[in-house]
Amino acid sequence: MKIGVFDSGVGGLTVLKALLRFYPRVDFVYLGDTARVPFGDKSAHTVVKYSLECAEFLMGEGVDLLVVACNTASSYALDTLRENLPVLVFGVIEPGVKRALCTTETKRVGVIGTRATVSSQAYKRLLEKEGVEVFQKACPLLVPLVEEGILEGDVARGIVKHYLEELKGKHIDTLILGCTHYPLIKPVIEEFLGESVKVIDSAESLALEIKPFVENVGSSSLSLYFTDQSPRLDFLVELILGKPVNYKLLPLSCKL
Ligand code: DGL
Repeated sequence: MKIGVFDSGVGGLTVLKALLRFYPRVDFVYLGDTARVPFGDKSAHTVVKYSLECAEFLMGEGVDLLVVACNTASSYALDTLRENLPVLVFGVIEPGVKRALCTTETKRVGVIGTRATVSSQAYKRLLEKEGVEVFQKACPLLVPLVEEGILEGDVARGIVKHYLEELKGKHIDTLILGCTHYPLIKPVIEEFLGESVKVIDSAESLALEIKPFVENVGSSSLSLYFTDQSPRLDFLVELILGKPVNYKLLPLSCKL
């Protein structure tokens, strides 16, 4: 079985990493749109357009199931992708929400993500339907922080405090990490919020969600594609996957 995974860039490798751990007998194709990252400050129209193009590329690779690893793309493009593609499409929002619903006792949940994810209200709408009070916060500096490899120390703690102080004051008992990059600084976030707040990583929730649809019995391979050779690409692939992995750059003639 072949699973396609796409993201705006390298962040979705956190989702891929969880999938590789859960499903070692599956072929994976990953596309990171490094030429057009970030999606998190683009308009809804642009995010849908880019997402369709990424998905089309993966369909051309013959994938049987598609995972939208990017929270911003999941927030805006999931319905369009489901309407237009002949395979099952999973995003990261619903699994994160399901996990939060099982976790929260006080029904006060925080959500952090890119500006676009927060303004889409995608997490908020689903949680509020279940009677949960939602406190959202866009944390735009966390993506560049992680991409600089600053995953701990005073600078990371200072930026986390800057964004999360307000949420801490709302007495949430659960926080959803609504962005691909945030699992990498989860320890700093957990330290700041303390033991009373459970921090939810949608990557693992998604890996569990697709279990009924995955045939984890065949060959195993990993093909990584990126749309641009950004200067930090090698560093970030190794940082997130824990080892260097070869990748291909899409040729300029590619339709993307
Ligand atoms: N992958 C994006 C997300 O999860 C973060 C990076 C971006 O803004 O494109 O929302």
